[in-house]
Amino acid sequence: VDSDPLQDFCVADLNGTLSINGFPCKPISKVISSDFFFDGFTKEGNTSNGVGSAVTSGNVLAFPGVNTLGISMNRVDYAPGGVNPPHIHPRASETGVIIQGEVLVGFITTGNVYHSKVLKFGEMFVIPRGLAHFQMNVGKGKAMVITAFNSQLPGATILPLALFASNPPLPIKVLTKTFQVEEKIINDIKSKFIF
Ligand code: GLV
Ligand code: MN
Repeated sequence: VDSDPLQDFCVADLNGTLSINGFPCKPISKVISSDFFFDGFTKEGNTSNGVGSAVTSGNVLAFPGVNTLGISMNRVDYAPGGVNPPHIHPRASETGVIIQGEVLVGFITTGNVYHSKVLKFGEMFVIPRGLAHFQMNVGKGKAMVITAFNSQLPGATILPLALFASNPPLPIKVLTKTFQVEEKIINDIKSKFIF
């Protein structure tokens, strides 16, 4: 739901000053064909981390050709058992297709209704804008998913990081009162989120 473009394209000048909505355009005379192609998804992401997943972003920061076009994609790799932890995209709906493996895809509505399904090769899902969602590899081997967004920079609030790994940290009493547990439990959770 980014705003509509007013010209054919506006390849981002990432060194330019970010304006009210997006990046300024590179001068047309400097635009080259390779601005419109991106090979960032040719390699598997490194899933050797606590959650066993890796997101490779093809948003405007990685792929300046999408600037002002209201579109971007991700590649997500999952080790066996890996999870792309619950997160929210504040600026986009997401759709995706399973390229490899068996993936449990779920989202939670603002009314706390949970929708989910296990998907295989070629099957698609959609996550309505702003809703919390995750994917988990529930198959035996690796999994890979390609996702797409109606924003050049959908943003991601990763819920465990927002709550347990912010900088500076949230006051501990906010977390102990919210979850109604002791400090030790909060500190145990925090110690895991240095990925
Ligand atoms: C998956 O949820 C992604 O944001 O790419
Ligand atoms: Mn997502």
